Amino acid sequence: MDAHDLGRSVKWVTSFRTVGAARVLRSVRAAWWRRRVDAAEAPGPVAERARVPGPALGADPEPGGGVVRFARSSLRVRVAAGGAVFCGWDGAAPEPSYALAGPVPEVDERVMLEPDTDGGWRVVSERLLVVVSRHGTVEVRTPGGVMLRRDQPPRWWDPVDAAADRAGPRWTQRSEVPADARFFGLGGRSAGPRLREGAYRLWNTDPGGSFEPGDDPLYLTMPVQLVVADAGTHLVFHDNSWDGRVLLWEGEEGAGSGHDRPGRCELRMTGGPLRYWVVAGTPARVLRGWAGLTGGAAVPPAWALGHHHARWGFGSEAEVRRVVAGYRERGLPLSAVHLDIDHYRGHRVFTVDRERFPDLPGLSAELRKDGVRLVSIVDPGVKAEPGWEVYEAGAAAGAFVRDGRGRPVRGEVWAGTSVFPDFTDPAVRRWWGGLYAERLAEGFAGFWHDMNEPAAFAAFGEHTLPRSARHALEGRGGDHREAHNVYALAMARAGYEALRELRPDERPFLFSRSGWAGLQRYGGTWSGDVTTGWPGLRASLSLVLGLGLCGVPFSGPDVGGFTGSPSPELYLRWFQLGSYLPLFRTHAAISAGRREPWEFGPEVLEHAGAALRERMRLLPYFVTLAHRARVTGAPYVRPVWWRSPEDRALRDCEDAFLLGDALLVAPVLEPGADRRAVRLPRGRWYDTATGRPHEGPGQVLLDAPLARIPVLARAGAVLPVAGADGGVELEVWAPAAGRTGGGVLVVEDGGEEAEVVRFTTGWRDGVVMVEREGAAEVGFPVRVRGV
Ligand code: GLC
Repeated sequence: MDAHDLGRSVKWVTSFRTVGAARVLRSVRAAWWRRRVDAAEAPGPVAERARVPGPALGADPEPGGGVVRFARSSLRVRVAAGGAVFCGWDGAAPEPSYALAGPVPEVDERVMLEPDTDGGWRVVSERLLVVVSRHGTVEVRTPGGVMLRRDQPPRWWDPVDAAADRAGPRWTQRSEVPADARFFGLGGRSAGPRLREGAYRLWNTDPGGSFEPGDDPLYLTMPVQLVVADAGTHLVFHDNSWDGRVLLWEGEEGAGSGHDRPGRCELRMTGGPLRYWVVAGTPARVLRGWAGLTGGAAVPPAWALGHHHARWGFGSEAEVRRVVAGYRERGLPLSAVHLDIDHYRGHRVFTVDRERFPDLPGLSAELRKDGVRLVSIVDPGVKAEPGWEVYEAGAAAGAFVRDGRGRPVRGEVWAGTSVFPDFTDPAVRRWWGGLYAERLAEGFAGFWHDMNEPAAFAAFGEHTLPRSARHALEGRGGDHREAHNVYALAMARAGYEALRELRPDERPFLFSRSGWAGLQRYGGTWSGDVTTGWPGLRASLSLVLGLGLCGVPFSGPDVGGFTGSPSPELYLRWFQLGSYLPLFRTHAAISAGRREPWEFGPEVLEHAGAALRERMRLLPYFVTLAHRARVTGAPYVRPVWWRSPEDRALRDCEDAFLLGDALLVAPVLEPGADRRAVRLPRGRWYDTATGRPHEGPGQVLLDAPLARIPVLARAGAVLPVAGADGGVELEVWAPAAGRTGGGVLVVEDGGEEAEVVRFTTGWRDGVVMVEREGAAEVGFPVRVRGV
C-alpha cells in the first residue's frame, strides 16, 4: 500500500459512508478476505524476460495495410475505410473488443504496405502516412509528412512460465508528440481538461467520501487521448481494459539550446494486448471517426434535458411531494426527481420501502401531471440474503461473480454483504435486464447506475472485487484484472438493451457513474461525489469537457457539490454553470445541506429561477445537440478551441466552453467576481445579455453580476429556442457585414425519427435574411438579434 492508498483508506474509514461500528468491522473483514482470496490465487513471483521487437525481417501486405515481421514480434497496420488506423503488436487483432460498436470496420482497399527507404515500411492512406522503421518505431504523419506521433518500439516483460499467469506480458510503450501539443481525455479527470505532466491511472475507482481536483483516478477512466497540436489533432485509443498508467510530459518549444523538446507519453500496462487506433483530422472529424468506431451516443428523451433534482436522503413520499410543490409554487421548471438508495427496503436493489414509499406508481402518475418524472438509482450489488427473491434468482442462474475456487465473491456495500452480477456474461445481462420491469412498474422513467466501478467498501487495499475474481468475458473467460474497467460498461448495456425491449417506444434514459470507451452507446454519466467548494466547481467543468472529448457527450456535476453546504454564491454559480451542461442535476449526500434553490435566500432564488427558465428556453437547442451528437460524435459541450485548434491561446483556455456551434459560455468559477475575462475564438461574438458585438480572436472583459454568467452567441448563428407559446422559434444572430452563417434544428416526432432542418443566414439589401434549405418558407418565427 503506498501513501496515497493509505490516505484513501483512512478517508474511507473515517468518512460518513463507513461510519457505524458494524460497517467499519465488516469493511475490515472484507479487506482481509479480499487479500486472502487474491493471495491464494496469486501465481507467486513471476520470473520475466524483457523483449523488444528486434530487427524487421520482412512484411506481408494485406488489404488495408499489412503485417511487418520482426525478430521477436510482429506489427499489423490496417487502415479502415473511414481513415482510422489500427496497429496491433504480437498478433493482436481489433476483436474481441468492448469498445467497438459493431463489426470491425471494413478496410480501405486502396491502401497497401510498401517498402520504405531505410529498410522500414510505410502505409500511405488518404489522411495519414504510417511509417514503420526497421526497429519498430511507428510514426504517424499527415499526408504532407508532418509528424503527429512517434511510437517507440514497445517493450514487453514476458512471464517465463506463461501458463502461470494468463495476463500475458506487461508492456510499456513510449511516444512522442509535437512540442506544442496538448493532451486531453483519458476519461473523467478532475485535474483537466488539459492534462498536464503527471501519472494518470487507468483503473475505475470510487475515491471514497468525495473527491477533490487532483484526486486520480476517478470512476470513469479510459485509454483515450486526444492530442491537439499545430500539426493536427489526433485521438489514440489503446484497446486494452487492464490496469495501467499513462505518464504525460508536455513538450516545450525552444527548450535547451533552442531545440524543441517533444511532448512525451508513456503507457505502462499490466497485461492485455498492445493494440491501438489512431484517428486524425480536425477535432470534429476526429470525434466523428471515433463515434464511427465506438457508436453514436444514445439520445436521451427530451425531458431528460430539463432540470433534475436528486437527493440522497429523501425520507418519504411526503418529502418528495414537498420538494416538487416547492418548485411548482415558485414557478420553477422541474423535469425529474431522483430517488436514491433510501427508497429501497434496507438498501436492497429492485425493492421499495413500502412504509416510507407506499405507492410509488401513484406518486409517479401524480408527478407526471406536472411534467415531473421519477428516476431510480440502480446499484449492482445484490444483498446476499437467502430467501430474498432477487438474490435467490441470481444465485440459481449462476449470475454472481465467483472466485477461483467457485465460491461467490462477497463485498460490503450499502445493503450489507452483497454479491455482484457478472455483466460480462450475456445471459446475466439478460437476467439483470429483466429486473428493470419491476422499476418500470413502480413508475420510474429513468435509471441512474451507481457504485459500478464496482465499488466495495474495504478498510484497506482496493475498494473493489478481488483481482482473481472470475468473469465470463463473453465466453472467453478471465479475471477481474481484465473485467474491472468494463464492468460498468457491460452493466449499462444490460440496462439499455432491456429498456429498449421493455419499452420499445421510448428512448431509455440511463446514466452511469463508471464506464469505459463506448459508454455513450447506452447513456451518459455524471461527475460523481465532487467535494463542495470552488475547486470542485472547476473540476465539474473539466470532467464534462474531458469526457466529451472521449466520446461521452452527456454528463454533468452534482450542482452545489455532493458534500456539506455551499455558500449561496457558490451554489448559484454552480447552478448557472449546470444550466448549460447536458445533465443539469442538483444532488447531495445524506449528510449535506439542502440544495433547493429557495434555501439560499431571495436573491439566489431569483437568479436560479432565471437560469432554469433560460435552460427551458434553450431546450430545442439541447434536443438538437443531443441528436447531432449521435450522428456526428460532436459533444454538446466543446472546448473553445474546437473550431480553431491552431489558436494556442485557446488551447490553454480551460474556464469557458462552446455549447454547440452557436454559444460560448463563460461560467464564473471564483468567489467575489462581478466581471471576468473571456477569450474569444476568431469571428464576431455577441454578448447575449447586452447584444454588444466583440471581435475575436482576443480577450474581452465582460460583466458577470450575480444575476448571470457571460454567454456569447456566434455571429450568423441560428439558435432554436422555445417561444412563449411553447413552439420553436429561431433566434438569429446577425452575421458580420458581408458574412454568412447558419444553424441546424432537429425536430422530434416523439419517436425514433427526427427531422434535420438546416438554415443559412446572410445579408440582403441591408437586412438579415434567413433561409431554410430545400424550402421556400422558413416555417418558424424568426427573431433577429445583434442589429
Ligand atoms: C454514491 C453516489 C452518490 C449517491 C450515494 C448513495 O456515493 O455517487 O451519488 O448519493 O452513493 O447512493
